Amino acid sequence: MLGKISNVVLVLVYYSILTSSYSNGYPLSTQNRWIIDESTKQRSKLVCGNWAGHLEPMLPEGLNKKPLKDLVSQLVNQRFNCVRLTYAIYMWTRYENNVVEDTLRDLRIHKEVVKGISKSNPSLLKMTHIQVFDTLVKELGDQNVMVLLDNHVSKAKWCCNDDDGNGFFYDKYFDPLEWMQGLSLVGKHYAGNSVVVAMSLRNELHGPRQNKGDWYHYMSEGAKTIHKANPQVLVVVSGLNYDTEFHFLKRKPLKLNIGKKLVYETHLYSWSGVGILNLKETWTMQPLNKICANSLEALDNQVGFLRSGSDAAPIIFSEFGFDESGSNEEDNNFLTCLQTYLVGNDLDWGLWAFQGSYYLRDDKAQVDENFGLMDSSWTHLRYPNFNEKFQLLIRKIQDPTSKVSNNESILYYPLSGQCVKVNGRNELEVSSCETKDRWIHDGDGGNINLVKTNKCLTSNGEGFPVTLSNDCKSKNSSWMFVSRSKLHLATTNIQSDGEYLCLQKDSNSPTILTSKCICIEDDDDSTCLNNPQSQWFQLVPTNNNVQPSTQAMFYSQPKMRDRNIKTSSYASKLCKSQSLVRKFGQTVGLIVFFFTLLF
Ligand SMILES: *[C@@H]1O[C@H](CO)[C@@H](O)[C@H](O)[C@H]1NC(C)=O
Ligand SMILES: *[C@@H]1O[C@H](CO)[C@@H](O)[C@H](O)[C@H]1NC(C)=O
Repeated sequence: MLGKISNVVLVLVYYSILTSSYSNGYPLSTQNRWIIDESTKQRSKLVCGNWAGHLEPMLPEGLNKKPLKDLVSQLVNQRFNCVRLTYAIYMWTRYENNVVEDTLRDLRIHKEVVKGISKSNPSLLKMTHIQVFDTLVKELGDQNVMVLLDNHVSKAKWCCNDDDGNGFFYDKYFDPLEWMQGLSLVGKHYAGNSVVVAMSLRNELHGPRQNKGDWYHYMSEGAKTIHKANPQVLVVVSGLNYDTEFHFLKRKPLKLNIGKKLVYETHLYSWSGVGILNLKETWTMQPLNKICANSLEALDNQVGFLRSGSDAAPIIFSEFGFDESGSNEEDNNFLTCLQTYLVGNDLDWGLWAFQGSYYLRDDKAQVDENFGLMDSSWTHLRYPNFNEKFQLLIRKIQDPTSKVSNNESILYYPLSGQCVKVNGRNELEVSSCETKDRWIHDGDGGNINLVKTNKCLTSNGEGFPVTLSNDCKSKNSSWMFVSRSKLHLATTNIQSDGEYLCLQKDSNSPTILTSKCICIEDDDDSTCLNNPQSQWFQLVPTNNNVQPSTQAMFYSQPKMRDRNIKTSSYASKLCKSQSLVRKFGQTVGLIVFFFTLLF
């Protein structure tokens, strides 16, 4: 009898392990600067696409182009695990009963748009706006995508101008009471819905009415309102000046009584100055090393400090973007520099934007989004190299639960988004970031060793491939940071005293050479405008020592909300096979369980 009972217990334990080892990533909470899945205590890295639903039609974009299910699959295929879904407060406080079809008619929306929706998503036309949002949230959840609900504006329209009436408390359309009423309605509506993991207070506060007094007051009131309506969600707080400015929190931290739910968000584009510094430099008119170094320093000073110290909290870089045609040089330069910040600090982030087009924007119908991940047909990527460029950003580079020391680094090449590995000829080259090669830099001027070997990077002179060598005492194996951006790694050129030779990717092969350094004099009177980005290499600390190309290396465990996902993405294939394993396990468990009871 005792044997039988212990069998039953064993089977039950086995069964519960099988069913509980997959979490759906809900609810999330914070642990210092990290966002954590409360059920597994593992880090959850938010990799979000912004999906606009806050413009006049109050309808998430793209529903005229493709069935909703296919739109969401596009995101999943690019390995996003989160959507920052934007909405207008008035949708909840004034138009909660309005039907989509009527709104579109009143807006005199172009016939083609309505035709498109009735073809791709016919059932949505007769719904209220809120019902469409619910349908979208459901579909995102079914495909394992988390939702950060973002209050973008009060009155539905494009954001932002200084005088748009939506910028700050008491602006024409920004009544604080109606705003709180709206936040409360949204919070309650999605309370207990495991897809909605976070809610923001308000996107990009801006305009002439901005002041710190109101900021502290209403951020506290708004956070309390959300937390009361929906205690499970993360509460996302945005800064002043288009969400670029938090420096005032150094003197007076924001004290909120909302448990482990406070997260900050910040935004940056090539044209924004960082915070009050308003760097009037542009990304093509100034030495690039200098503007990148200045911007990253300013970012740390305005925002980055929030992730350390006794009040440390996570930062979601919830908006940045670039002209995805790839033809805007300023955006390209900006993006490569910002990548080093996102990767170096392993921040959670949100790309502006997922949408390839708008139904209606600033009174124009069927407008293209140049910053869109999708093209105007929502079929292809606008930027064909997206996957290569963003491959390291989507990964969990730091794992707060890891016991591995943090002194190993990935050697990153942000211009292409690739990582450095040693090839069969013992030379260095850029390749996929799935490479297992990790490096340890012995400090400025020291060796760069390949982990678990006695070998180090060595320069073989100007124009020659960099190789892995046993001669680590030589000057050719001693590497220092020679520009303020810290993105140039150089050895001294023995042949011409005082000069440096910098790592550089060869222009027509993956090989890495050493070559004369480009524009490393980034002091104030430098006028060197050559593009140094072929020489930007970054040592990115990592302690996530899991074998690459297993799911643990990615942003989070694939979640198991939907067992019938139809996407081709790697994560969901994995998800599918795991859920098969789980189902099999459950079935076996149950059969064994009943047999144990019988005999
Ligand atoms: C890296 O960290 C490990 C563990 O803390 C330590 O044993 C090792 O000496 C460190 N290596 C270097 C080069 O600092
Ligand atoms: C070391 O680097 C110099 C250039 O700085 C080069 O001329 C020389 O050949 C290199 N030595 C070796 C052993 O590769």
